[in-house]
Amino acid sequence: MEVKENFNLKAYNTFAVDVKCKYFVESDKGEDFAEFAKAYDLSRENVLVLGGGSNLLFTEDFDGVVLYPSMRGFRVEDDDDESVRVSVGSGEVWDDFVEWAVEHGYGGVENLSLVPGHVGATPVQNIGAYGVEAGETIKRVEAVDLISGEKVEIGAEDCRFGYRDSIFKHEWRNRFVVTRVTYCLTKRPEFRLDYGNVREEVLKMGEVSLRHVREAITRIREAKLPDVNVLPNAGSFFKNPVVGEREAEALRAKYPELPVYAAKEGGVKLAAGWLIEQAGWKGRAHGHAAVHDKQALVLVNRGGATGIEIARLANEVKKAVFMRFGVVLEPEVNII
Ligand code: EPU
Repeated sequence: MEVKENFNLKAYNTFAVDVKCKYFVESDKGEDFAEFAKAYDLSRENVLVLGGGSNLLFTEDFDGVVLYPSMRGFRVEDDDDESVRVSVGSGEVWDDFVEWAVEHGYGGVENLSLVPGHVGATPVQNIGAYGVEAGETIKRVEAVDLISGEKVEIGAEDCRFGYRDSIFKHEWRNRFVVTRVTYCLTKRPEFRLDYGNVREEVLKMGEVSLRHVREAITRIREAKLPDVNVLPNAGSFFKNPVVGEREAEALRAKYPELPVYAAKEGGVKLAAGWLIEQAGWKGRAHGHAAVHDKQALVLVNRGGATGIEIARLANEVKKAVFMRFGVVLEPEVNII
């Protein structure tokens, strides 16, 4: 276990915000985190489990302990004619796992190509893209309970997966350090190509295969989403808001071009990027922070932005969308 004091987190958050934490603890052993939690009497407010740092915004120095799990490895646990179960270390980069799956001919996560972040965050955030959510393939989460110090195994049914949501963001917030995640992948992939122009992009490459889906998604993402190494960002800053049928109908009557989708949990999901663009904020800046000019749901750091500056921009965007459409945007990014 390595413990660092007054540790700079600029390289550990994809918004590249220049902040420090009081302690930074890195380990590939779950027990180390449990021990540390006991020794330092951590409350849930002064601890933060950090993965790839691709879904958070620090608005000031973090006066607490950052736990950074670095468990590695892909272990095939079970293998039959239909499917394979793979246990993956929470410190692995998510997209490396997608590449591994595609390389081995295992389906289920190819639509989630290039989603940033570490494996450990996938059950917390229930990452999703192009019609697929990680929660559909997750079978089990292994973690260390920071309160009891025990190792636990949590079945998918207890994770309460929702749109960019799980129990780890609510009752179990900051309680567990995820150590490994087990995914069930299929040897007979059922391709999901119905989102946006995915099918069209895949067919341009020839036959429908895991590799071609991965390449198509990669191209679509690269065309719209900014590269964190060039324009630091945290992907979609807001969630697509889910409203009732009636509210959606009223909005569609007024704005027939507004993209809407049926939400899995019921209700209607509105495209927040469209709302932001129509409210006049696409490409607009506020100090060193800006709304991305190719995808308005993404806020970017144009260089040297503080967390406060980015949070202020988010607030301006939220106000503008509310004034124009009466719709409240909620951040997808975890603001700290
Ligand atoms: N749109 C606009 N203007 C914009 C952006 C989008 O009009 O500036 C319209 C698009 O034309 C399209 C619709 O809004 O009709 C949806 O856009 P897009 O397909 O780009 O997806 P999104 O709803 O903006 C969501 C996820 C993304 C994910 C894509 C693809 C959320 C919060 N975001 O974005 O996830 O990659 O769908 O599935 O659900 C992330 O979570 O960080 C992320 C990038």
